Amino acid sequence: MQNKFNNLKLIPETMYVNKIAKKVDTPFYLYSQKKIVNNFNNFKNIFKSVEPLICFSVKSNSNLSILKLLKTLGSGADVVSMGELLKVIKSGIKPEKIVFSGVGKSYDELEFAIKKKILLINIESENEAILINKISKKLGVITSIGIRLNPNIKASTHKKISTGKADDKFGISKDDTINFCNRSKNLKNIKIEAISVHIGSQILSDAPYMKTLTVVESILKKTNIKFNYIDLGGGFGIPYTDKQERINLINYSKKVKRFKTKNNCKIIFEPGRAIVGNAGVLITKIQYLKKLKNKMFVILDAGMNDLMRPALYDALHNIVPIKKNKVKINKTVEFVGPICETACKFIKYKNYQKLNENDFLAILDVGAYGSSLASNYNTRPLAAEVMVDKKKIKIIKKRQNLQKLILE
Ligand code: LLP
Repeated sequence: MQNKFNNLKLIPETMYVNKIAKKVDTPFYLYSQKKIVNNFNNFKNIFKSVEPLICFSVKSNSNLSILKLLKTLGSGADVVSMGELLKVIKSGIKPEKIVFSGVGKSYDELEFAIKKKILLINIESENEAILINKISKKLGVITSIGIRLNPNIKASTHKKISTGKADDKFGISKDDTINFCNRSKNLKNIKIEAISVHIGSQILSDAPYMKTLTVVESILKKTNIKFNYIDLGGGFGIPYTDKQERINLINYSKKVKRFKTKNNCKIIFEPGRAIVGNAGVLITKIQYLKKLKNKMFVILDAGMNDLMRPALYDALHNIVPIKKNKVKINKTVEFVGPICETACKFIKYKNYQKLNENDFLAILDVGAYGSSLASNYNTRPLAAEVMVDKKKIKIIKKRQNLQKLILE
């Protein structure tokens, strides 16, 4: 598939790339503080009438400076590991704004979360609830839990990021949730406070969300529990290509408002991508131009270890040169990385502009699941991360030190 190159926009902060590149080696992540703030406030605004607790999904971007920034905006956090929980606590986000999901939480992770008295531990199996009850009994406390529902709803997204079908490993089915609620009285050291649900990620239609609300409502009718919270998860998609549109959340917000009023509960959301996705680019340099008969490989210094999404989900991220040139290349151009895997490739274009070795390029919309999915594959250090706040340039994560990396 070949993509359109025309009219792709860079975030304004990329005007500092040449300046930053004098201090920071490429590839590096570059974030716009303004965009993160705007995205958070827009999301909050859309759901204003619902007054939700917004728990930023830390797996999408766990940079400590970004977590601290979100904290100042009033964000809570959705975490899935001890590491994320420790980072969020370090950022200053209070335990009463933290929810913890995940199908395989360990004893140590649960014990730590229980001791910290976080808002909710969202259980994903009955056995997890039994373990939480046991640990809480040992500690002499009562722990608030949510039940993660698997509503068996297709989210029409990439199959590797769908989480709400009966066949997916996440959550507990509707019937089992009802049965568990009605049998849980013996578990004296847990308090069921919430139903939580997250049906997948990069969802571009509100229809599956609407269906999910109906399933949640049918559960509320069949148990005697007073659920103080309904945690409606995240998953709100963003446009990566000109064929995709941002999900329209206005209708959904109205439906959630009615749901909240009717069921007299507080609403939690766990957005990740919608807050940071379009606020980050990955700056990379052209290592080599390799010309074949009918195409040209543009070999970048960023690889699949820096940005996994294309290799993992065939995700498209547009690539835009920092310096514009009106001259076109009359061959197909394919952007690839240096890693020794055929999957280490990004995107192809027709009619791309003329390029030179050592030019800087920006890989767009990588603020979510970019740096957080990066690895040391091929023993390559993790990239630096830079935040631009108006004209201020802040290095919010140093490039990993290669000398340290080779010691183990
Ligand atoms: N809540 C729960 C329980 C989740 O599992 C997730 C994402 C979220 C919230 C946040 O979803 P978001 O609003 O960011 O879509 N690595 C994949 C995405 C995996 C998402 C996993 N769970 C990607 O790069 O597309």
